[in-house]
Amino acid sequence: MKIGFVQFEPQFGEVDKNLEQAKGLIMESDADLLVLPELFNTGYVFTSKEEAISLAEQVPQGKTTQGLCEVAKEKGVFIVAGLAEKDGDKIFNSSVLVSPDGYIGRYRKTHLFFEEKLWFDPGDEGFSVHDIGICTVGIMICFDWFFPESMRVLSLMGADLICHPANLVMPFCQDAMKTRCLENHVFAVTANRTGTEARGEQSLLFTGMSQITGPDGTILCRAGKDSREVGTVEIDPQAARDKNVNLHNNLVTDRRPGFYGDLIET
Ligand code: ACM
Repeated sequence: MKIGFVQFEPQFGEVDKNLEQAKGLIMESDADLLVLPELFNTGYVFTSKEEAISLAEQVPQGKTTQGLCEVAKEKGVFIVAGLAEKDGDKIFNSSVLVSPDGYIGRYRKTHLFFEEKLWFDPGDEGFSVHDIGICTVGIMICFDWFFPESMRVLSLMGADLICHPANLVMPFCQDAMKTRCLENHVFAVTANRTGTEARGEQSLLFTGMSQITGPDGTILCRAGKDSREVGTVEIDPQAARDKNVNLHNNLVTDRRPGFYGDLIET
């Protein structure tokens, strides 16, 4: 199967334009599964909770999820994409998974970063994986990478491929993903955005360099720092399923959870 990322520079608050730009890039690609950045439709640097509420949408009824379903059907592609989700009086930094046959599921970001804590509610549904026929996918969003538990849980649930919408501003993630993928023996697609957003008191530069990482920690594809780019790689998801490290070590069965209790409980 062919997997890939869509890297571009969303414009803050321009939901229709951002969706159109993403659709155009998706239409140019022949991937089976594409990952878009975190909050690709709204932009990232909110200045108030009211602003986040006004741009958030219901999932799956909202126009962004519906627009993604349309292009997924037209192009025959699975898409994972980040958006601001409204559910009653709660707002989540979420990602949706859609298929050529429609909406499949969502993930609400567990580990909120920096001022996201002012606008968003922390994810309340935990992690889940989806068997989409061609592989089993798990989703995490940006700063979730900083907590090794995120990818460990998704991998133990059976994910072959971690879909990772991101708006990265620190320089560590791309290299760290080599270790995250190696220690779990999974593929990952980190889809980052580019550009600077200066709003209110904040100015954030997003680091680009979206990346596809293999189960042995190899970087299979890396985008430029500020390019508008769709990067794709052909993979065999089966390559993520053998968790043996060598004749005597297996990264799942060699774990010693009896000694990890304090870490897990606190
Ligand atoms: C991040 O979680 N957007 C850094």
